[in-house]
Amino acid sequence: MYQIVITLIAVLYQTCDATNYIPSVNLVNGKKIPIIGLGTYALTSDQNVMTKVINEAIDFGYRHIDTAYIYENEELIGRALNEIFQNNKTKRDDLFITSKVWNTYHKREQVVEAMKLSMNMLGVDYLDLALVHWPLAYRSGTGSLRPLNANNMTDDINISVVETWKGMEDAYKLGLAKSIGVSNFNSQQLTLILKEAFLKPVINQIEVHPYLSQEKLVEFCKSNSISVTAYCPLGKATKEILNDPVLTDIATNNNKTVAQVMLRWLIQRDIVVIPKTSKTNRLSENINIFDFQLTDEEMKSIFSLNKNQRIITSTLSANNPNYPFAIPYRR
Ligand SMILES: NC(=O)c1ccc[n+]([C@@H]2O[C@H](COP(=O)([O-])OP(=O)(O)OC[C@H]3O[C@@H](n4cnc5c(N)ncnc54)[C@H](OP(=O)(O)O)[C@@H]3O)[C@@H](O)[C@H]2O)c1
Ligand SMILES: *[C@@H]1O[C@H](CO)[C@@H](O)[C@H](O)[C@H]1NC(C)=O
Ligand SMILES: *[C@@H]1O[C@H](CO)[C@@H](O)[C@H](O)[C@H]1NC(C)=O
Ligand SMILES: *[C@@H]1O[C@H](CO)[C@@H](O)[C@H](O)[C@H]1NC(C)=O
Ligand SMILES: *[C@@H]1O[C@H](CO)[C@@H](O)[C@H](O)[C@H]1NC(C)=O
Repeated sequence: MYQIVITLIAVLYQTCDATNYIPSVNLVNGKKIPIIGLGTYALTSDQNVMTKVINEAIDFGYRHIDTAYIYENEELIGRALNEIFQNNKTKRDDLFITSKVWNTYHKREQVVEAMKLSMNMLGVDYLDLALVHWPLAYRSGTGSLRPLNANNMTDDINISVVETWKGMEDAYKLGLAKSIGVSNFNSQQLTLILKEAFLKPVINQIEVHPYLSQEKLVEFCKSNSISVTAYCPLGKATKEILNDPVLTDIATNNNKTVAQVMLRWLIQRDIVVIPKTSKTNRLSENINIFDFQLTDEEMKSIFSLNKNQRIITSTLSANNPNYPFAIPYRR
């Protein structure tokens, strides 16, 4: 009886506060990250749209925002957040904000500078999570964030990921970020950092969707207590993936959309998802994934769709000494 009353109260409470049913992933440093966040790459360049989307996202229960210096939208997000904090709609501490240090800031002393630039634009005095955006270092001071050389490949410099990681640890010690991690790192690059680091990276943010299932790299990360965030979790919602017969079948059987099935497949693997949309109905659709479960068989059929097909290849940096995708899984 007692249990039933407690359960009822819990259910009622959940319907009042959308965030209560959004689970988190536990990071190795004891912090938690909401398992779904709002992706913001190319979301909008219009302040009114950004403010509207972030307000709607919060209303639907999103408490996690994924951005980066290179997205050039941190000022827009910052103004939206400032308004939200002024209105007492949510508190800074109730949000989880991720940003990323860009490739032109890879020298140890540049990392803190890069993070402060992002924090200033966002109008926050700490980041919940700061990531090294890529293992790739580009020449700085050229006036371009993607400088090119005479062959029209990126103007690379050879900086060890360990040096950049030391800059991340400096920023952590200064309190700029509550957690630090990496993105687009392969297993060798993670191994290098794990060997040298004072602090372990808590997350590797990588591309994962049904056509790039990343089973080996995810397993490698987990075996080293590194959590995984999936970018392009909807495979960019191409016609091909949205009409994939295996996915549409599973979606129909669960009375869900293909997008919801793709996200559910990831969260059932304990992978954080950051789908991007600026459309109200899709913001709601993408977070409405906590009331159904895929069977082991359905999970397996989705794994069987893997074709190691990358959307983000960064081939302009294929000659960079730290190009991550030439040796995807070897240690
Ligand atoms: N670390 C990295 O290097 C890296 C690289 C790429 C991305 N990211 C991060 O990951 C986030 C997500 O990746 P992404 O934006 O590239 O791709 P994505 O989230 O897989 O797909 C976004 C596309 O799907 C559409 N969409 C969203 N919800 C949908 C739904 N329910 N049904 C049908 N279509 C839907 C969106 O269109 P509408 O907006 O028109 O709805 C947009 O075109 C980025 O925004 C960024 O924050 C990180
Ligand atoms: C927000 O809360 C603060 C402190 O409680 C209060 O002073 C302020 O008037 C509130 N603002 C609004 C718009 O309600
Ligand atoms: C590099 O790109 C520029 C501009 O697109 C072009 O004019 C030039 O010929 C290219 N150089 C090489 C070596 O391909
Ligand atoms: C890059 O630097 C490392 C030492 O940090 C060196 O071992 C490696 O050969 C260099 N690679 C290139 C392409 O210069
Ligand atoms: C299927 O999903 C839709 C949209 O969420 C909902 O309105 C409808 O009631 C569901 N149907 C069944 C049979 O559960």
